[in-house]
Amino acid sequence: MPSHVAIIMDGNGRWAKSKHLPRISGHAVGAKRISEIVAAASDLGIKALSLYAFSTENWSRPQKEVSFLMSLLVKHLKKELKNLIRKNVKLVISGHLEELPQPAQKIINQTIESSQHHHGMVFNLCLNYGGRREIADACSLAVKQVIDGKLLIAEINEKVLSRYLYHPEIGDIDLMIRTSGEERISNFLLWQLAYSELYFTSVRWPDFTKIDLLKAVLTYQKRERRFGGI
Ligand code: IPE
Ligand code: IPE
Ligand code: MG
Repeated sequence: MPSHVAIIMDGNGRWAKSKHLPRISGHAVGAKRISEIVAAASDLGIKALSLYAFSTENWSRPQKEVSFLMSLLVKHLKKELKNLIRKNVKLVISGHLEELPQPAQKIINQTIESSQHHHGMVFNLCLNYGGRREIADACSLAVKQVIDGKLLIAEINEKVLSRYLYHPEIGDIDLMIRTSGEERISNFLLWQLAYSELYFTSVRWPDFTKIDLLKAVLTYQKRERRFGGI
């Protein structure tokens, strides 16, 4: 079983377009898929699930769409808390929360607090997240430690730098899934993806079910991971 699974939830807009619906209805249906996938991943015994919900680049979308996504987030998290409790899932956020609208920050902080003692799967929601920004943030934290005399430049290596990532405890990604047919990383967890198995499916996120998750896991189980060895 992959220990850490990460998903780029893509294709909401195209799903809506194919049904002659506005883009936002794709987001609304997409948000509902999250509960099923979080529960299924937890049932499978996956230790950590990272979901890409909003990138640092997504601010460039029309303001109406961005506000809709933010309000959806608030609505969804309010409902989701019950499920997180039932499954003993712990919510963590990767990304700059302080740049999100106040109501979103409030509900997120409440949910983090209510689930922080859970010992089941870690649900890493990537919000206002950028992979390059995370690495840059890690570098600036390390530099601060050097300035404060708590770290020597000579001590900085991959292992040490990875301690300054947003959630170092979650570790590297075993399996990365992207829905909707695009085959790119789009500034997702760049550091953690260094040796991941990649799985691309044409299924759009609003249609992605736990069966699709299982298919991805089964494909992963047939892969041979080498990590540079033979
Ligand atoms: C993914 O669906 C959701 C977010 C990026 C927030 P998209 O909105 O990117 O859907 P497409 O790619 O336009 O179909
Ligand atoms: C990546 O999807 C971001 C999220 C799923 C949150 P995008 O739809 O924004 O990515 P690009 O622009 O097609 O690369
Ligand atoms: Mg997209």
